[in-house]
Amino acid sequence: MAEPKSPDSAAARAEDLRTQLRRHEHLYYVLDAPEISDAEYDALINELKRIEAAHPELLTPDSPTQRVGGKPAEGFKKVRHSRPMLSLDNAYSAEELADWDRRVRELAGNLPVEYIAELKLDGLSVALQYEASGAGGARLSSGVTRGDGQTGEDVTSNIRTIRSVPLSIPSRLLEKGKMPEAFEVRGEVVMPAAAFLRLNEEREREGLPPAVNPRNAAAGTLRTLEPSIVANRRLVFFAYFLLVEGEYFAAGQTATLDALSALGFRVNTHRARVDSVEAMMKFIDKAESDRETLGYEIDGVVLKVDSHATQQRLGYTGRAPRWAIAYKFTAKSGITQVTAITVQVGRTGKLTPVAELAPVFIGGTTVSRATLHNADFIERLGLKIGDTVKVERGGDVIPKVVEVIEDAQHPRGKHRFVFPSKCPECGSEVVRAEGEVDYRCVNADCPAKLRESLLHFGRREVMNIEGLGEAVVQQLLDRKMVTSVADLYALTEEQLAGLDRFAEKSARALIAEIDGSRKAGLARVLMGLGIRFVGERTAELLAEEFGSIEAIEKASAEELERVEEVGPRISQAILEFFAQPANIALIESLKKAGVDMTAEKKQRSTELADLTFVLTGTLSTLTRDEAKKRIEDAGGKTAGSVSKKTSYVVAGEDAGSKLDKALELKVPVIDEAGLLAMLQSGSLKE
Ligand code: IVH
Repeated sequence: MAEPKSPDSAAARAEDLRTQLRRHEHLYYVLDAPEISDAEYDALINELKRIEAAHPELLTPDSPTQRVGGKPAEGFKKVRHSRPMLSLDNAYSAEELADWDRRVRELAGNLPVEYIAELKLDGLSVALQYEASGAGGARLSSGVTRGDGQTGEDVTSNIRTIRSVPLSIPSRLLEKGKMPEAFEVRGEVVMPAAAFLRLNEEREREGLPPAVNPRNAAAGTLRTLEPSIVANRRLVFFAYFLLVEGEYFAAGQTATLDALSALGFRVNTHRARVDSVEAMMKFIDKAESDRETLGYEIDGVVLKVDSHATQQRLGYTGRAPRWAIAYKFTAKSGITQVTAITVQVGRTGKLTPVAELAPVFIGGTTVSRATLHNADFIERLGLKIGDTVKVERGGDVIPKVVEVIEDAQHPRGKHRFVFPSKCPECGSEVVRAEGEVDYRCVNADCPAKLRESLLHFGRREVMNIEGLGEAVVQQLLDRKMVTSVADLYALTEEQLAGLDRFAEKSARALIAEIDGSRKAGLARVLMGLGIRFVGERTAELLAEEFGSIEAIEKASAEELERVEEVGPRISQAILEFFAQPANIALIESLKKAGVDMTAEKKQRSTELADLTFVLTGTLSTLTRDEAKKRIEDAGGKTAGSVSKKTSYVVAGEDAGSKLDKALELKVPVIDEAGLLAMLQSGSLKE
């Protein structure tokens, strides 16, 4: 698209783009109802970035390009809240709710008592201040954590990266809601389950201990000093309070939520009017059953008296309002005894210690084993065999031991666990590489590795071969029917029908599943191969980038590292994998078996697609080579001399004749900051 040249038309176009972008952000991040594709969104934001780079005077702090504008913070300022951010009293049963309801009705006198039920989001509460923007609307001026309730920390630059937080609110919406230009919004910042999983995958790759839960991860993220990291974590803000001059706005909670929604905030849609304890319990039961599929964590339900007048009458106890209560789900944990510690060998030969437990019923299932991760984890817990421990289970996550119970009723265990020096499966030596936490079995042919590789290969997230469970795999191995995952594709119905407890029908079904997995595609095959550090997301990115297994096999470390998320550790692991003749042979056998190892290649990053840059003079932070690489990585080209075809000249200190030439040919000139702004879209993109 042609860039507007005159300042007037550039200003108009920039404003038009901002309006469009804000609308699409709202549709996507607040209403969850996008109207355009990510690529179309990118095209709009890239156009705006180009205009802003060419006309820096048009840049406004609330521009959608400025979410990650802030510099890394040096620390966080302490800020006093306009009014204290309180906590809630808890209830754990219908009886406790009935007691609370009775008290509320007594104290409310003749004022209306109607309740609203909301989800209790398991994140951290923040207070956002909006102030007059000077252009008639309001703009986000600060974001502060709850802290101790009286004072919190100013984390504004991190809050700005959260897409469901509007950076500005147009006067039109304020007028419609009869709102002043200055107000405060409070609500909860949560880390979605998908972002939490991705974070822990990343941490695992980096050899860091996993974050314990999304709430801690969200809290840690908001206190990160680098806003671009925060932007990548995909936090979400749900608004639930609206204050004007420290007082509640609107007639009650329902009206508040509606007003917030109308202003463009994301408001949780799971809420209901509940006017009896039965109705509250019904909402609670529904919330508990929806819990696993919400995509973010909740730890209960908050019940609030709707009317603000009634709220005021009820007032506060020391630390919590009398007009609200949190019904907390009972934690999915249990207390039990560790009867033994065994060691499991994984497909990479990694040895994982496992706590064998006296069976305990947690959140609907009986748990009798829990992971202990590694030797260091056992050390940190101070765990001994015979100890009583607290075990937690979240969703379909593997149960884990979270603490050792030390009190008079639970005498401590006596036996320290000693990590075996031989592989429990094959008796080979185990080693712990320098700087790693895990012990590994050195035997390439350790039978546990093949068993775990087959199980991994069949997993739903990998090749999705339903029916390839432990019992079947064990029999295939015992009968020497497979020596590698590729052998699965040579199995016949007759062979399978001969297995114990295997009917003709299940044999046919499994063969059909194996057959179907031939089309699973490159990303899944990459995961199935079990290359170290290559999880779901990395596999997908590699597949999109290279399009075929051959291309990945041929790629250099440098080429591999062009893929987002692939650093030297992963590229090294990939190179090592392809350097092993046994692995190449496996890939050949899979190919012969008809397994598809191709993927649709994605267009490379396109922020700067079709743009040609000429660099001149000395840039202040990037070297010439770095700048060239960044431009090329973003899909742009660089040239040595200025012509009419040059899109931009990037001029640094002491720029010489190329700058003169640019001015003569009317080629736009930008500085290093302008270039960086154009490149930054990478960190803003989904
Ligand atoms: S109302 C008086 N509503 O729970 C202020 N809080 O245990 C009470 N929370 O600090 C806040 N979801 O961080 C409210 N829908 C919701 C909530 C919610 C989660 C958190 C909030 C508060 C804590 C109190």
